[in-house]
Amino acid sequence: MRASAEKQPDTQPGLGDGLHLALLIEEGRGEWHARRIVRSLEAMGARVTVSSLPHCAFDTGLESGIDIPGFQGRLPDGVFVRSISAGTLEQITFRLGLLHALRESGVRVWNDARAIERCVDKSQTTFLLHKNGIPTPRTRVCETLPHALEYTEGLDRPLVLKPLFGSQGKGIGMIAQQSELPAPETVDQMYYMQDYVPPKDGFYEDWRVLATRHRVVAAMTRRGTTWVTNIHQGGKARVHLPDDDMARISMAAMRAVDADYAGIDLIRSASGELQVLEVNSNPAWRGLQGVADVNIAWAIAEDFLKTVVAHRAALHVPAVAAIS
Ligand SMILES: Nc1ncnc2c1ncn2[C@@H]1O[C@H](COP(=O)(O)OP(=O)(O)OP(=O)(O)O)[C@@H](O)[C@H]1O
Ligand SMILES: [Mg+2]
Repeated sequence: MRASAEKQPDTQPGLGDGLHLALLIEEGRGEWHARRIVRSLEAMGARVTVSSLPHCAFDTGLESGIDIPGFQGRLPDGVFVRSISAGTLEQITFRLGLLHALRESGVRVWNDARAIERCVDKSQTTFLLHKNGIPTPRTRVCETLPHALEYTEGLDRPLVLKPLFGSQGKGIGMIAQQSELPAPETVDQMYYMQDYVPPKDGFYEDWRVLATRHRVVAAMTRRGTTWVTNIHQGGKARVHLPDDDMARISMAAMRAVDADYAGIDLIRSASGELQVLEVNSNPAWRGLQGVADVNIAWAIAEDFLKTVVAHRAALHVPAVAAIS
């Protein structure tokens, strides 16, 4: 970690004055990212209460109907979602419902539940990229083995198979022929099948761009010893300065899922075309911070605060802390 990159720039010191914000993190985790976001938001004047969605509640005994620990039934001025935490289908539905309810109540939530839903489900992301004319490898997502068999009849190219809700490169596989299709119970009955983009110039390489609604914050090249280049799978990071093309496609991908901040994975095809593999709505940036020259948490916190302030100004709402 380069200490200098994590030094806090002296910009926007009073941006968060009077705001009481909620930061929602993964339950039970003293989180590296959360600490940095809190430190940055506080340095800009905001008050931050850290909690987790599993500790929040709907409660009709409260005027707001929503109970977030530390807010006594009142609504926060803004909510930053670092994680919705793992859970059952019912728990995840409930937590996304809470985030939807916050938005419906006028609270600016980063990322909004709709963006999280679009990104958690890789098939939605892929569809939206395609619909918005953003290059992404040819992909078919379908249920049941017979349908997957139909698609792979006479397969003449390798396909990447991904779990619909996967992250960090976990559970990703490749097949070269139809007989290698995995059994339905090993893929939750879902077949996400994407054309494999072979390495260009002999390197297994892709790019992770971290962006907010306002800007590209930082980017890195990831080079793997295998075709799965995630840092969690042993990929090695190098800082990368995105050119205009890379910045443009990353911002377009963000807009396609309407995310406020996201990690965008890009790959270059043999013909040199940039393609979007993935948009991640709760990206980690520890690996990226290790090579980047900017303080990533600070940049994200600053852009979040700018959005909250503008949102509240548009709604003419006084800050919670200002009236307490
Ligand atoms: N179609 C593809 N062709 C070549 N390599 C691929 C392809 N899809 C994925 N990969 C490799 O596998 C890695 C992981 O894929 P992807 O980003 O789609 O899922 P993930 O990283 O598990 O999910 P998330 O980005 O949400 O954490 C990519 O970074 C890339 O190295
Ligand atoms: Mg990825």
